[in-house]
Amino acid sequence: EIHKASTYAPVNIAVIKYWGKRDTKLNLPTNSSLSVTLSQDDLRTHTTATCSSSYQHDSLTLNGSDQDISGARTQACLRELRALRQEVEAQDSNAPKLSELPLKIVSENNFPTAAGLASSAAGFAALVRAIANLYQLPATPTVLSRIARQGSGSACRSLFGGYVGWQQGELDDGSDSVAYEVAPASHWPDMRALVLVASAEKKDVSSTAGMQQTVASSALFQYRAEHVVPKRMKAMEKAIHDRNFEAFAVLTTKDSNNFHATCLDTDPPIFYMNDTSRAAVRMCEAINKAAGRAICAYTFDAGPNAVVYYLADDEARVAGTFKSVLGGVTGWKSDIKTSDALEGMEHVGDMLKKGISRVISTRVGDGPRKTDEH
Ligand code: DP6
Repeated sequence: EIHKASTYAPVNIAVIKYWGKRDTKLNLPTNSSLSVTLSQDDLRTHTTATCSSSYQHDSLTLNGSDQDISGARTQACLRELRALRQEVEAQDSNAPKLSELPLKIVSENNFPTAAGLASSAAGFAALVRAIANLYQLPATPTVLSRIARQGSGSACRSLFGGYVGWQQGELDDGSDSVAYEVAPASHWPDMRALVLVASAEKKDVSSTAGMQQTVASSALFQYRAEHVVPKRMKAMEKAIHDRNFEAFAVLTTKDSNNFHATCLDTDPPIFYMNDTSRAAVRMCEAINKAAGRAICAYTFDAGPNAVVYYLADDEARVAGTFKSVLGGVTGWKSDIKTSDALEGMEHVGDMLKKGISRVISTRVGDGPRKTDEH
């Protein structure tokens, strides 16, 4: 007999960044963070978890290739999920002893894993959600976020849809370091995101290693964690509750730049943004200047790809401007001929054209979705 459950999990892109750990084993952060969950119609991990006495051992494949399941992060997730299943089995003597059976986990990303998109976040969220479904755990998304965090910090935020916070927590065991819903996608559904893929290469410093170097050497980072982020978290939650895009945009861009400044302040310095990234920054600034207010906001994770947030009403002015510059990039056709924002921006346009290999146009979306056939 084979027991089975499948799920999708979404990608999330932070607007207040997680950077720095106070506990590297449990992935406990030095500051809280906040993200927007992106639509699973466009970007997602699909994971099927099965368990059976006919399997020899636990296994995990990603996009068809075998993955090492013995890593401490994956093992922590499996151990916690099995412990919760044992509680179910202890309470109900009729419940099959699934916790004792080997697991087979099969994951597929519908986007290139190497593209530097938040694949570990969607990946661990999908793994945890799929096994929780398989085990029929009564666990809430909050409890599952605590487990997924141990796989990858940012994964805890992909258990929820919409606008999601991750409170850093204070306890040593991490039980209060969990994700929470700031607002569902339906609260502010017209949020759009443009992912400008500037590199499909693997990042040169992994976020785990980069964070440790920053924590160890940057005084600017200490200041960010203690003084900058706590205020921004409050302001960002208010901007979202009020659906105030200008406030959202200013906080998002400032926080991305502040995070990358701490990377530069790291010894040795870490450079995630490149010339293409900076051209995307310039283009956003030009679009906002032409509009006379902030109608788009850029943010960069631990790599050169830009994510540009904007509202549906400004589709033509934001996405349209990028489209007219990037006309020719896969699947993208220019639908506007001129834009005020493009005046004097030929050099920036050329840089973008040269450096951007792919564009993904998406929006705010919901949390993990069951995909079982029945
Ligand atoms: C820059 O969640 O990938 O994207 O906990 O070591 O797995 P680990 O790190 P990870 O770091 C993400 C960092 C970031 C900012 C963010 O997503 O908040």
